[in-house]
Amino acid sequence: MTRSKSWARGAVLAFAALVIGLGLAACGGDSGGGGPKIALLLPESKTTRYEAHDHPEFEDAVKAACSDCDIIYSNANQDASQQQSQMEAALTDGADVVVLDPVDSTSAASMVQLAKQQNVPVVSYDRLILDTPDVDAYVSFDNVKVGQLQGDTLSARLADDGNPSGPIVRINGSPTDNNAKLFGEGAASAFTKAGVQVAKEYDTPDWSPDQAQTEMDQAITALGKTGFKGVYAMNDGTAGGAIAAMQAAGIDTKTVPTTGQDAELEAVQRILTGDQYMTVFKATKPEAQTAAKIAVALAQGKPVPTSGLPVPQTKTNNGSTDVPSFLLTPIAVTKDGGAGTSSVADAEYGGQKLVGPDGYWTSDEVCTAQFQSACQSAGLS
Ligand code: BGC
Repeated sequence: MTRSKSWARGAVLAFAALVIGLGLAACGGDSGGGGPKIALLLPESKTTRYEAHDHPEFEDAVKAACSDCDIIYSNANQDASQQQSQMEAALTDGADVVVLDPVDSTSAASMVQLAKQQNVPVVSYDRLILDTPDVDAYVSFDNVKVGQLQGDTLSARLADDGNPSGPIVRINGSPTDNNAKLFGEGAASAFTKAGVQVAKEYDTPDWSPDQAQTEMDQAITALGKTGFKGVYAMNDGTAGGAIAAMQAAGIDTKTVPTTGQDAELEAVQRILTGDQYMTVFKATKPEAQTAAKIAVALAQGKPVPTSGLPVPQTKTNNGSTDVPSFLLTPIAVTKDGGAGTSSVADAEYGGQKLVGPDGYWTSDEVCTAQFQSACQSAGLS
C-alpha cells in the first residue's frame, strides 16, 4: 500500500541521512530534500496563473508543512502526451504523491492508473480527472459558480446598456478541460435566465489567446462590427485575444463588455481602463495550500486530512466514483463593484486582497505609469 511504500522510502532515506551524517536535508533537491517526494504537474504556461501563482504558492506551502519534502515540478505546455511523459518521469523519480492538473481531463485517467499501479496517490488539482476510481482528492473552485458569475455579471451590464438580449459572442475554453464544460454550464444558465442570445460560439483549443483572437476576427467578419453587444470569454487569456481582435477592427472595447477569469495582471489593468468588463478572482493561494497539505499527508502515508483546510470536504462524482473534494469560492470583480461583484479595490479572499501590499498583486504591479489615473479613479493609490 501507499502508506507502507512511503514509510519504507522515508525510513530508508532518514537512515541514510543519519549514517552519512552530512545533513542531507540541505542537498536532496530544490526544496531541501531527503524526505517524501511530491510531484506537481501543471498544464500550461500561456495562462499566467500557473507560473506566477500556483507553482510558487504550492512550493511555499509544501515547504511550510514539510521542510524535508522534495518537489518534482513539470509544466506540460498544453500538450497531453508531454504531460503523460512527465507523469512517467515523476514516478520513475520516486514520487510519493502526484498533484495533477490535467491537460485532458479524460485521457488523464490512464496517467492515474499508472500511478495507482505503483501505489502512488493522485490529487486532482483545479481540473477534475474523469472516469477513474483512483483519484484520492480534488481541490478546485466551484466551477459552475464561476460560469454563473460571468454570465450574471455580463447579463446585468447588457441590460444596463439597453441590450438585455445581447446578442453576444461566446469564446469558450479548451474542450478537453472539464472546467470549461462546468463554466459553460453556469454561464448558459445565467444567459437563459436573462434571455441573452448567443450569435456565435467557438471552442478554443488549449485555451490559446491567439486562437481566441482568430475566433473573434471570424465573429466580427460574420456579424459585422455592431452585430454583437458583448463577449463571453471564459478566461482572461481568451478575453485578451478577443479584445485585441476588436481593437484591431476599430471597435471601442469600452462599449462591448467582455468577461474573463483568473484576475491576471493585464486583465486587472484592462478592467481599470474599461476595456474588459469583469474577471473572476480565484484565490490560488488557498487552493495551492489545500492541495499541498493533502499531498504532504498522503506522501507521509496519512489519510486526506479532514480539518485544518479552508473549506469543508464535499464529494464530486467524476463519472466513476465520488471523489473527496475541497471547492473554494470564486469572486466576481468589476472596476467599481456592485450587482453582486466586488470592486478591484475591495476584492479579497480569506484576508488576501486582490490588490494590496500582501495581495494577489501589489499596487506597484498594477498601477504602473500608464495606469496611474485609472488606478486613482478606482481608489487604488
Ligand atoms: C482553470 C482556469 C484557467 C484555464 C486555462 C482552467 O481549468 O480553472 O483558471 O484560466 O484552465 O488554463
